[in-house]
Amino acid sequence: MSNKPKHHHRGQFTSSLGFILAAAGSAIGLGNLWKFPYIAGNSGGGYFLLFYIAFVLVLGIPITLAEMSLGRSTELSAVGAYRKINKNWTFVGGIGVLCAFVILSYYSVVGGWVLKYIAAYLTGGQFGGDYGAYFDSFVASPVEPVVWHLVFMAFCALVVVGGVAKGIEKASKIMLPALFVLIVVVAVRACTLPGAAEGLKFFFVPNAEPINTPSKFINVIVLAMGQVFFSLSLGMGITITYGSYLKKNDNMVKSTMLITGLDSLIAVLAGMAIIPAVFALSSRENLTAGPGLIFKTLPAVFDSMPLGGVFGLLFFILVFFAAATSAIALLEVVSAFLIDTLHWKRRTATVSMAAAMALIGVFASLSMGALSGFTIGGMNLFDAMGFLTDKILMPVSALLTCIFVGYVWGVDKAAEEVEQCGVAFRLRRAFAFCVRYLAPVLILVILVMGLVNQ
Ligand code: PFF
Repeated sequence: MSNKPKHHHRGQFTSSLGFILAAAGSAIGLGNLWKFPYIAGNSGGGYFLLFYIAFVLVLGIPITLAEMSLGRSTELSAVGAYRKINKNWTFVGGIGVLCAFVILSYYSVVGGWVLKYIAAYLTGGQFGGDYGAYFDSFVASPVEPVVWHLVFMAFCALVVVGGVAKGIEKASKIMLPALFVLIVVVAVRACTLPGAAEGLKFFFVPNAEPINTPSKFINVIVLAMGQVFFSLSLGMGITITYGSYLKKNDNMVKSTMLITGLDSLIAVLAGMAIIPAVFALSSRENLTAGPGLIFKTLPAVFDSMPLGGVFGLLFFILVFFAAATSAIALLEVVSAFLIDTLHWKRRTATVSMAAAMALIGVFASLSMGALSGFTIGGMNLFDAMGFLTDKILMPVSALLTCIFVGYVWGVDKAAEEVEQCGVAFRLRRAFAFCVRYLAPVLILVILVMGLVNQ
């Protein structure tokens, strides 16, 4: 007979603020810091911001709330939550856990790069004059990035072994406020550089050029939707899992607004920290450099400003906090699955899963150097894992989540759960419309366009 653990055995967030910071921490990550600024700048500036906010409202908030109510109602993490309501849908939770597993395997590699840059700044910030070559040769080398990746994963495991209140909540309460202070400091520095105004204009002022034909317009719309998805970590079981540790009297509508609002705020602050600095001290073309933006362009930008070493260090520390809080959430999703479903001890579940993902991450890291000859569909292992999660697993899982909450469990059940806090759910009908109709259609568009555009 299975001895289902009661929620106090599973752990619980001690305060609403702790939950909000942990959930916001899971959302705020590399997506906010390097992806959002350059996508927004190149996709119409102010227009992109408007589209983005619109999709946060119609996709981000309803799906986050749907996942949160599912978790709190069942008091179980992703797989258990679906299974408790309808056994046939257990696999949807499984997709979420699988997705978290794959993402963390390579996310931790990038986390390791961030640690390496912190170490580089702490030891004098010598990048050998050529920032691009420095980064390229570092990621392709066989030992150093692997070691930093293992250190990053070990750090996350240490926090998650500590449990919900003493590990995740405590770490988030330190890292997220610190991240906020640091990003404001870097943004103020960037916006006061001579020449910064051009960058701010590029970021904020509506520019019709990138959206002035129907096909360009559709592309930008799809980019905005995809960015909302990635940034809010939708469809991964994270919010189901964190929601399951939430007290019944928490006002989930308020928490959802705060989490999604904080995520968007950090994305905008990241734009204000990065774009004006790149405009002032580098060239605009460098904004499109993808991962190179953070690791190649920004160190050069920091080096050409007074006290650049200090700002570079602060910047990479804040990137570390952002990446770590997301990685901790991913590890928790995988561990909680084993704790809830197979009744493993937290320590055993966390350490074994962290070790398994670390091992796969080693291959992902080597796929940029020693193992680059091994490709899947023309991509190295690192890129193939990103493709699988971002383009397939995340949208599929989010689509099924909407269908499940909208039609199988029922939006009324979700709404009842939302109202447990004693406050009427005034946006109930809008929520039902988004979860049942609007979100599934939009997600289908993201899924198809993502595969077609590949
Ligand atoms: N939301 C994170 C970011 O913006 O960087 C990325 C992410 C983390 C996506 C965790 C998915 C996830 F499960």
